[in-house]
Amino acid sequence: MQNDTENLESKKVKKNEKWTTENLLKAQADARNTENFSDLESYGDFGSYRRVLLGDDFKSSMLSYHNQLNPAAKVDFCHGFLNCRAEEVFSVLDLGCGMGYTAKELANFYKNAKVTGVDISIDAIEYGKKNFSGIEFRCEAVEPKNPKIGQFDVIFAFEFYPFTRTNDLEIHIQWLKYLLSQLTPGGHLIIHLLWKRPRSVFSTICRLEKEFPEFRFATHTVPREQVHRVLKIRFLSVFFDYLVRLILRKAPNKGIVISRAK
Ligand SMILES: C[S@@+](CC[C@H](N)C(=O)[O-])C[C@H]1O[C@@H](n2cnc3c(N)ncnc32)[C@H](O)[C@@H]1O
Repeated sequence: MQNDTENLESKKVKKNEKWTTENLLKAQADARNTENFSDLESYGDFGSYRRVLLGDDFKSSMLSYHNQLNPAAKVDFCHGFLNCRAEEVFSVLDLGCGMGYTAKELANFYKNAKVTGVDISIDAIEYGKKNFSGIEFRCEAVEPKNPKIGQFDVIFAFEFYPFTRTNDLEIHIQWLKYLLSQLTPGGHLIIHLLWKRPRSVFSTICRLEKEFPEFRFATHTVPREQVHRVLKIRFLSVFFDYLVRLILRKAPNKGIVISRAK
C-alpha cells in the first residue's frame, strides 16, 4: 500500500517536472533520434520543431500550439506596459524563444536594440538562425545556476516553463534573482502567461513581490493576439477580450511586469 502511494507520488512529481531542463533535454534527445517526421508526435515542443525542420507543414506539426507565429500585436501591447519609448530600448532578451518568431518581431519593433533569443532546442535555434536575420540566437539550457546571459533593457518570458509549469516559490525566487540581476537600471522583465493556471507564477506572485521590495511589480491583462490585431486600441481590445472570455468562462492572459529602479 505504502509502495503504491510512493509510486503514485513519484509519478506525479515526474509528470509535474516535465519543464525542468534535465527532462527537456531527455525529451529533445528522443525527438532528435528520428529522421522521418511522420514518426514524431507533435504534442511536445521538440517533436513539433523537428517535424518542421524535417519538412512537415505547420498544420500537422502543430507549431502554432507551441509558438506564437504572429506575435506583432502582443509585442506592441506588452510594450505599452513599459514607461519608455521603443527607440530607447537597446538590448532585449527573448527567453525560451522557440523557432524565433517573437524574437524577429521584437527586432522589428525595437529598431535600435540588439535582440538575443535563447532556447534549449537545437532544432528551434537552427530554424531561427536560418530564417531570421539580425538576431543573436543561442542554444542554451537557461538555469539560475548558470552564468548570466548578459545585461538587458527588457527581458521577455513568453510562456516560459519555469514560470508557467510550477508553483514552487523557492524556484521562482531563484529565477527572479537570476533574471532581475540581468536588468539594466530602469529595465523590465515581462512574464506572459495564461492566468489562473494553478501550477504557475499565478500562485506565487504576491509572495514574490514581498521578496523583492526594491523592484516594482505590476500585473496587466493581455487580450488575445487576434483581438488586439483587429481593434488596435488598448482599452477596446481589453474590453472586448473581457466580454468574449466572460462568455467562454475563460480567464484572460496576463503580463506581469517587474521593473528595476533607474
Ligand atoms: C511554449 S514555448 C514558447 C515559445 C515562445 N516564447 C512563444 O511564445 O512563441 C516554450 C519554449 O521555452 C523553451 N524552454 C523552456 N525552458 C527552457 C530553459 N530552461 N532553457 C531554455 N529554453 C527553455 C522550450 O524549449 C520552448 O521552445
